[in-house]
Amino acid sequence: MCRIHPLAAAFCVSAFVTVSSFAQTAPATPAAAPVAAPEVKPAAPKLTPEEIVAERDKFLKEIRAQITGHEKEPAETVFKDIKTLKGVSAGTLLAIMNIGYSRSLGVSCTHCHTPGEWDKSDKPQKEIAREMGRMSKTINSELLPKIANLQSQKPGINCTTCHRGELKPAHDLPAPPPRPSAGAAKT
Ligand code: HEC
Ligand code: HEC
Repeated sequence: MCRIHPLAAAFCVSAFVTVSSFAQTAPATPAAAPVAAPEVKPAAPKLTPEEIVAERDKFLKEIRAQITGHEKEPAETVFKDIKTLKGVSAGTLLAIMNIGYSRSLGVSCTHCHTPGEWDKSDKPQKEIAREMGRMSKTINSELLPKIANLQSQKPGINCTTCHRGELKPAHDLPAPPPRPSAGAAKT
């Protein structure tokens, strides 16, 4: 397990993860020119951030109903194919799925799972997530401890540290807001 509790993600949501990152692209307006536009396959309807949260809550409610009374038991005894999250309770596993994974990446459960077939690894994203978990563990347990003079006793990273609500971690900071005083001549 990561040294940083995955739920710590809940407390470090970036202020710049805004609705805009999920904004739907406006449907293409039909071209006025007589040239026939190439046929574009309609993309799967994109969910709004609110719909994503509602969908996650719906799936969680269904699964919680199925495991009632077993929430405190180890995830690997309650669920079928637990490899990287052994040792956490079944209830905590669901919280990690919701906050640690989905929220950190800005997605619904369906990004990694076919709903109802939670134990299957039919989507590559699920195995990627396992690899990301292993990578995070290596960073936390092997690489960070080798760096001297850090501020924290136990410095650590989690999914949110890199992803910050996006599938592809950024390589740059968002543009800073314009400074109100900039360019304003003082009298
Ligand atoms: C970024 C990918 C990702 C997202 C998003 C995600 N999961 Fe998972 N899920 C995984 C991985 C990886 C495992 C297996 C963990 C392991 O091997 O220890 C898993 C395991 C599970 C399991 C255990 C299944 C079993 O029987 O073995 C359940 C249940 C589950 N997820 C539900 C959810 C729900 C509900 C959501 C949305 C709230 C969700 N997951 C979002 C990656 C994801
Ligand atoms: C050190 C930074 C870092 C950390 C920590 C990290 N990731 Fe990633 N993750 C990346 C990078 C980089 C990519 C590749 C993005 C790309 O395709 O260019 C990625 C990609 C992914 C993808 C594929 C996204 C897609 O396009 O479908 C998943 C799923 C994922 N990460 C899950 C996780 C999970 C779950 C965690 C926490 C256990 C995690 N990551 C932690 C850096 C990180």
